[in-house]
Amino acid sequence: MADKSPITTTKLLEMKQKGVKITALTAYDAPSARLLNEAGVDVILVGDSVGMVKLGYENTLPVTLEEMLHHVKAVKKGNSRSLLVADMPYLSYEIDLKDTLKAAGRLIKEGGAHAVKLEGGMEVAPMVKELLKINIPVMGHLGLTPQAVHRLGGYKVQGRKPQEAERILTEARVLEGSGIFSLVLECVPPELAREVTRKLSIPTIGIGAGAHCDGQILVLDDMLGLGDSPPLKFVKRYAELRPAMLKAVSSYCREVRDGAFPAAEHAFVSLKAE
Ligand code: KIV
Repeated sequence: MADKSPITTTKLLEMKQKGVKITALTAYDAPSARLLNEAGVDVILVGDSVGMVKLGYENTLPVTLEEMLHHVKAVKKGNSRSLLVADMPYLSYEIDLKDTLKAAGRLIKEGGAHAVKLEGGMEVAPMVKELLKINIPVMGHLGLTPQAVHRLGGYKVQGRKPQEAERILTEARVLEGSGIFSLVLECVPPELAREVTRKLSIPTIGIGAGAHCDGQILVLDDMLGLGDSPPLKFVKRYAELRPAMLKAVSSYCREVRDGAFPAAEHAFVSLKAE
């Protein structure tokens, strides 16, 4: 019988040790979380991608802690089994240690997340150690870190040059040393992802990082074809839902206008007088 017990950070480690691939997807609301549970997804990430995917922002930088909390709470309500990880939004962890601890604490205590994710290398390692001291597990994120989009000069593949690859490998080791339980590798060449995955004892979760990571993550809306822009190179569309939704909404408009909806079966019957 399939194991239905909740996914924990230690279970993810065991999965790496046994060579069982980890499945992860983003979710931003309760029905999506329920769907992901039903499908057996191991990790649900409430990513700050919510800013672009759901809130209409140009990038992830404007996302606030309150907005993250709003979505984490919703996902928590729909989630029963997956490990629930919440992104720490831009400027909630880079500046002040006390602010970092409070922000992460709120995502756990009020939001109901099991762990937080933060982007960056050496510079965030001290924060990771302090978060662990207050019992908050941390997922790292290296390679293309979207909160650094302006410094990186756009959404570009990272670690292509030997020096860059060496830096990412070093940072991965530093983060592992600081206590992260898992590491997202975004948009790096597959050979680098394989090297990092081999060298670390914690699981790596790839997005645009090839097949050698211990697990994979995608943005749910991207893999379902819900967005209105063409898919990025590393996204596989497992469904094309937007055209189906557009067709349904257009049919509704046409039927309301021409009187075909509502039909008799959609109306309530009156009760007869006694
Ligand atoms: O915000 C997000 O959705 C992410 C994933 C793409 C890894 O960080």
